[in-house]
Amino acid sequence: MSPIILILQLILFLLAFPIYVLNFLGIWDSIKKDLFSNLSDFANSSKELNVLEIGCGTGANFKFYPNGSRITCLDVNPNFQSYLSKSQMESDHIKFEGFVVASADNMTTVADASMDVVVCTLLACSLPDTPKMLEEVRRVLKPGGAFYFLEHVASTDDSSFISYLQKILNPTWSLCLDGCNLRKTTWKDLEQAKFSDLKLRHIQAPNVLMPITPHIVGYAIK
Ligand SMILES: C[S@@+](CC[C@H](N)C(=O)[O-])C[C@H]1O[C@@H](n2cnc3c(N)ncnc32)[C@H](O)[C@@H]1O
Ligand SMILES: *[C@@H]1O[C@H](CO)[C@@H](O)[C@H](O)[C@H]1NC(C)=O
Ligand SMILES: *[C@@H]1O[C@H](CO)[C@@H](O)[C@H](O)[C@H]1NC(C)=O
Ligand SMILES: *[C@@H]1O[C@H](CO)[C@@H](O)[C@H](O)[C@H]1NC(C)=O
Ligand SMILES: *[C@@H]1O[C@H](CO)[C@@H](O)[C@H](O)[C@H]1NC(C)=O
Repeated sequence: MSPIILILQLILFLLAFPIYVLNFLGIWDSIKKDLFSNLSDFANSSKELNVLEIGCGTGANFKFYPNGSRITCLDVNPNFQSYLSKSQMESDHIKFEGFVVASADNMTTVADASMDVVVCTLLACSLPDTPKMLEEVRRVLKPGGAFYFLEHVASTDDSSFISYLQKILNPTWSLCLDGCNLRKTTWKDLEQAKFSDLKLRHIQAPNVLMPITPHIVGYAIK
């Protein structure tokens, strides 16, 4: 194929999948490292940590999980299943418990009160019904279990330039990027989700594309 076509294909890919590309470059890694640093505080009384990651994609978060944790992966896209079982054979610091193909707002095959931790990063923007997803998360968590999240959200300052940019870009952005909504107020859903405790911070992520700078990060306890 001609080099021009390859270059144009690459440019189009970079434009169409900015979150995957930024993820690959490790843009969120320092925030994630910090967020996941005390995941093991939630291990069960046999010192095992049962984690469900929803919207796991290619497993970009695995390297942050404590040694020996038992990971169940869930993604609506079944293509990640074969990708993950391969990458799992190659890394053995975590135990791969299985892959569930389902939507995070309807994960009926995951049992009630079966997980110590549920992890969700960069997923809520493309979920039409976040409250339903949070209801499911609370269902599968054990009492005292934790829901860890990192999401890009709407700017909280309606008069800011970023807010202006989000309003202008949003219709096209969400059409081109698999329903990714730049203007979600996911923190409000978390506040209303009946967790017993919520540690939530609003941060400006460095080095990401400007319209997705505002993020929320933290964890909620069932
Ligand atoms: C932007 S990627 C984030 C991947 C990973 N969590 C990370 O932080 O690198 C979003 C992932 O969510 C998945 N996804 C989208 N809608 C979903 C849904 N309704 N239920 C479960 N997963 C979903 C996509 O297939 C994709 O793997
Ligand atoms: C996690 O670490 C932070 C900061 O080090 C601390 O404030 C918080 O209490 C810890 N969370 C848990 C559940 O231990
Ligand atoms: C802790 O998790 C492990 C692995 O899933 C399980 O076998 C064990 O029964 C759990 N312990 C308790 C006390 O729930
Ligand atoms: C996990 O195991 C690896 C290799 O076995 C070791 O280098 C690393 O320090 C361990 N990490 C923790 C958090 O125990
Ligand atoms: C939830 O998922 C189950 C099985 O995966 C499916 O049968 C059911 O129709 C789904 N419910 C909704 C509301 O989508």
